[in-house]
Amino acid sequence: MNQYIEEHNGMFALHTDHTSYLFRVDAYGHLEHIHYGRRVSLSDEEALSLKQTLPYGTAVEYEDNVQRSFRDIEPFEYGNSGIGDYRTPSCLVSYAGGTSTDFAFAGFDTDDKEQVMQNGFPCAYDASGSLTIHLVDKTGRMALDLIYTVYGKSDVITRRAVLINLSEEELTVNRLMSYSLDMMEDNLVMMSFHGNWVKEMQRKDVPVNAGTISISSRTGFSSNMTNPGFILRRNDTTEMHGEAWGFNLVYSGSHKSIVSRDEHGCVRVMGGFNDENFSWTLGNGEQLETPEAFMTYSDAGMNSLSQHFHHFIRHHIVRGAWQYKERPVLVNDWEAFLFTFDEEKLVSLAQQGKELGAELFVLDDGWFGERNDDHAGLGDYNVNTKKLPEGIRGLSDKIHAMDMLFGLWFEPEAVNPDSDLYRAHPDWIIQEDGRRNLTGRYEYLLDLSRREVQDYIIENVGRVVDEGHVDYVKWDMNRHMTAMSGTFVYKYMLGLYRVLGEIFYKRPHILLESCASGGNRFDAGMMCYSPQIWTSDDTDAMERLGIQKGASYLYPLSTMGAHVSAVPNAQTMRSISLPVRFAVSAFGVLGYELDLTELNDIEKKEIKEQIAWYKQHRHLLQYGTFYRTDCDDAHESFTVSDGKEAVTGVYRRMMMAAAPMERMHVAGLEQGEYEIGMRNAIVPLDIPCPSELGSCLETAEDGSSGIRLLWKPLCASSAALSYGMPLPLVFNSSGLSPYMRYPLDFGAELYTAVKKK
Ligand code: DGJ
Repeated sequence: MNQYIEEHNGMFALHTDHTSYLFRVDAYGHLEHIHYGRRVSLSDEEALSLKQTLPYGTAVEYEDNVQRSFRDIEPFEYGNSGIGDYRTPSCLVSYAGGTSTDFAFAGFDTDDKEQVMQNGFPCAYDASGSLTIHLVDKTGRMALDLIYTVYGKSDVITRRAVLINLSEEELTVNRLMSYSLDMMEDNLVMMSFHGNWVKEMQRKDVPVNAGTISISSRTGFSSNMTNPGFILRRNDTTEMHGEAWGFNLVYSGSHKSIVSRDEHGCVRVMGGFNDENFSWTLGNGEQLETPEAFMTYSDAGMNSLSQHFHHFIRHHIVRGAWQYKERPVLVNDWEAFLFTFDEEKLVSLAQQGKELGAELFVLDDGWFGERNDDHAGLGDYNVNTKKLPEGIRGLSDKIHAMDMLFGLWFEPEAVNPDSDLYRAHPDWIIQEDGRRNLTGRYEYLLDLSRREVQDYIIENVGRVVDEGHVDYVKWDMNRHMTAMSGTFVYKYMLGLYRVLGEIFYKRPHILLESCASGGNRFDAGMMCYSPQIWTSDDTDAMERLGIQKGASYLYPLSTMGAHVSAVPNAQTMRSISLPVRFAVSAFGVLGYELDLTELNDIEKKEIKEQIAWYKQHRHLLQYGTFYRTDCDDAHESFTVSDGKEAVTGVYRRMMMAAAPMERMHVAGLEQGEYEIGMRNAIVPLDIPCPSELGSCLETAEDGSSGIRLLWKPLCASSAALSYGMPLPLVFNSSGLSPYMRYPLDFGAELYTAVKKK
C-alpha cells in the first residue's frame, strides 16, 4: 500500500492528486463500483454507495429468497453475463456447456510501480502504484485479473484485464473489455471525435439519455473515423467549469467503446479492442490480455480534463531521447515536389529551409524502387539512383553538412502489387482464401502477424536508417485493412508493436513521426514509439484549426505535427495568408511543406521571422499548459502558458460588417503584471496599399510587399487578462488604421504575455 492505494476490509480506494476511485467487495464477492470523481476518502464508501433498500418487481434474485440480491441494479467494476445483470457484459466467454460468467473476489496484490504487459502491447510507465484484483469464476473454470495503475500527478488511472483459463477444457473469448465501470451520474453528454481522411477529430456531442451509444473503429486501425478517446461531461460543463470524465486506450487497432444508460440511472461505460469477429481460444493455463485503457476526471472544466491527459501522455506514454526535447522545425518535400524530384532539387529546398531557420530536412515518398507515382515500388527499399545518384547516404551527408538533421519516409506495412517484394512473396499480404485481394491507394497490407514479415521490415528499415545516418523517420500507412477478423487485428497489433520496438527502442536517437494518411492512427499506442504524429493531410489553416482543436481534447500539442503549406491549398483550393497559416501551425510541432525556393522575398522574410519567433516560444508551444477559450462559431482562441509567460492565438473565421469587439482571454497566468506583445507579422499584400497604411508597408528588393501588423505596447494584470482584454477593432468601412488587424476573413494574430520583473 502507498499513499495512492488503500484497502480496508475489502474496500479499495485509488487516489490521484485530485481524484478518487472507490470500489468494494460485496456480499457475493462481486466488485461494487462506488465512486469515480473528486478526491474523497476511503471512509466515504458507505455514504457514496447506492442504497439498495427495496426489491424490484421482475428482477432475478441472485441468492434464493434474498430479495435485494438481484444483480441488475448494483454498479459493478466489470459486468458478468447470465446471472441476472442485463446491462452490457464486459466480457463474453463460451465453453462446453455455457456462456455465463460469475467472477468473485479471490485476493489482491499491490505494487509501487506499474505491471508490465505480458503480451507485448505497449503501456504507460513510471506509475505511482498499481493494484491487481484477482477474481475467479465461481465454477473455478477461469480467472480474471483486473489491473489498476495510478499516475498521481497526472490524475490518471489506467485499467486492463487478463483472462486466464483454469480448466482442462478450451475456453473461447469473444469479448474482453479493458475496463468497465458503472457510474450513477446524471445529465451526461458524450463527446467523441469522428471524421475521415482530411477531416479528422471532428467533435460530436450526444446526450446520454437511454439505450446504448457505441463508438468504434472497424478499419483494423484506431482510425480517422472514430478516435478511441472520448469524454463524458455534464451538460453544462464548459472549458473552464464543470465536471468531465475522459477515457482512452493505449492501442492502435480497431476499438470499441460502449456507453449505456438504464432506467435506474446507471451509466455503464466500457472500452477495449473491437470484439467483432473476435474469437480467441485459450487452452489450460493460457491467458488473454487486453490493451491498457486510461481515464481521468476533473471538476474544473474541459481544459483541466485535457491537461490531465496531456500531462499523462507527455510523462507516461511518450518516452525516449525525444520525450522532453524541443522538436526541430522541419521542411518536408512532399507537398513541394510529390514524386518528381532529384538530388539537386532536394538540396536547394533544404538549403533554402536552412537559410530561413529550419533544422530538419525530410525526404518523403518516392525515393526507392520504381516509385515514381503511387502505383509501384512500395516494399522495395533500394534507393532510386536516377533520383539520388549517391544514395541516401550521399543526400544525408549533404544535409548534415548544412548542419541540419536528415529525415526519411517509409511505408513499411504496405506493398504495391507492382513491386519486387510482392512478386517474391505474394503470400505475405493480408488475404482470405478464395477472395479477391482489394487494394487501397494501389496497395495491399502486409501480414504483420507473421514473424518473417516482421523480420523483413525490421531488417530493411533498420539497414536503411543505419546506412543512411537517418535522424528522423516518418512512418506512413495509407489504407484501411480488409479481409480480417477481430482476432487477426489483435495479432497484427502485436506484430506492429514488436516491429516498432525492435527498430526504434534500439535506436533512441531517431525521432519517429508516425503518419497514416494524416491522422488515421493518432493514438496513445503509437505515441509509445512516436513522440509526434502527422495530424492530418488537410493543411488548410482554417480546417486544420478545427482538427487540431479536436485533437487537443485528448492529446498534447507536442504530439501534433502541423505544417505550413502552399496556397491555393491542395485540399480546399483556399488561399489563406502566410501569417495565419503559421498562427495555426505554431500550436503544434511546426514544419513547412512547400517549395520555399519559389517564394518571393517578402514571403521568405516573413517565414524567417516566423521560425525565429517559434523557436523563441517553442518550449511553451510544445510543452506549455494548453487552454481553449469558449468562443462563438466565428472565432477560436488557444493559449499556452507556463504561469509566467503565455502565447495566445486569436482566430477569426469570417469578417462581419461592423464587426463586434473581440476579447482576448489569457488563462493560466500567475498573479501579477504582464507586458502584452503581438507578433508583428508581415501579411503579403493582396490589395493595393491604401495611403493610411503607408507606415506599415514593407517592401523587398524583388518588388514584393506586405503590410506589417503594428502593436502599441501595453501592460495588463493577470486578472484583466483572464477576464478578457478587448483587442483593437478590425476594419470597419469608415476607415483604415496602421493598427488594424488584417487579414479579415481567415485572420489570426499571435499575442504574448510576459510577467514583469
Ligand atoms: C500520406 C501522408 O499523409 C503524406 O504526408 C505523404 O507522406 C504521402 N502519404 C506520401 O505518399
